[in-house]
Amino acid sequence: MAHFIVLLGPPGAGKGTQAKAICEALNIPHISSGDIFREHLSKQTELGKLADGYIKCGQLVPDDVTIRMIGDRLKQADCANGALLDGFPRTIAQAQALDELLRKMNARVQTAISLNVPAEVLVERLSGRWSCPSCGRVYHEVYNPPKQAGICDEDDTTLIQRPDDRAETVRQRIEVYQNQTEPLIEYYRQKGVLVGVDGTQSIEAVQHDILASLAGVR
Ligand code: AP5
Ligand code: MG
Repeated sequence: MAHFIVLLGPPGAGKGTQAKAICEALNIPHISSGDIFREHLSKQTELGKLADGYIKCGQLVPDDVTIRMIGDRLKQADCANGALLDGFPRTIAQAQALDELLRKMNARVQTAISLNVPAEVLVERLSGRWSCPSCGRVYHEVYNPPKQAGICDEDDTTLIQRPDDRAETVRQRIEVYQNQTEPLIEYYRQKGVLVGVDGTQSIEAVQHDILASLAGVR
């Protein structure tokens, strides 16, 4: 059976950080809507330029554009076995569209993992975040530093900070999450697929809880 897993959580909750272990455990690809938008922006595509207008002020990219982009990605051959969706869906309309896309593939969301982290912790996490523009690996100055400051452990690329991690934009992103994305917790609870994980623990402890919650689907 294909494993389609949704990773929910506010900005800075640790979605990207936890993605690798989940994907390795289930042998599925990591699909991050934010990473795909940033990749388009780096290539200066029309989609990238459109998305950037929303991303830099902490707003959501419109549903129609986002749903089409993820629909195209799910059609690729590597998703036959499932996928980890990080940052998608983010609205009820996106969640309903995902159900429909998966229905056409004879699949469904098997587990929705909600990483719970209070707002006051998020700003500190994001202000210390550095990411690799090449492989997407995420670090934190204090909680998860690279071996050599400013350089990716995997591929030696110079690490960057995301422009939307400025404190004002982070506050806006948290508000957008609370208004538009938090209702998805109830959406997936009603479907009986929600798993809540305490995202304030250490990176290792969060990973342990996530993998334990997925033990039944492996
Ligand atoms: P996106 O890229 O998805 O950003 P986000 O949801 O705001 O989440 P982040 O990537 O900021 O956080 P994360 O949970 O991945 O945390 P991380 O693991 O990096 O989206 C960006 C923008 O794109 C959106 O604002 C929107 O405009 C647009 N967009 C994307 N998807 C969309 C959609 N579906 N619809 C419409 N628009 C969309 O960790 C953060 C930091 O904390 C790191 O430094 C890490 O090292 C550290 N850390 C992680 N875990 C721990 C821990 N347990 N303890 C201590 N530190 C930790
Ligand atoms: Mg992320």
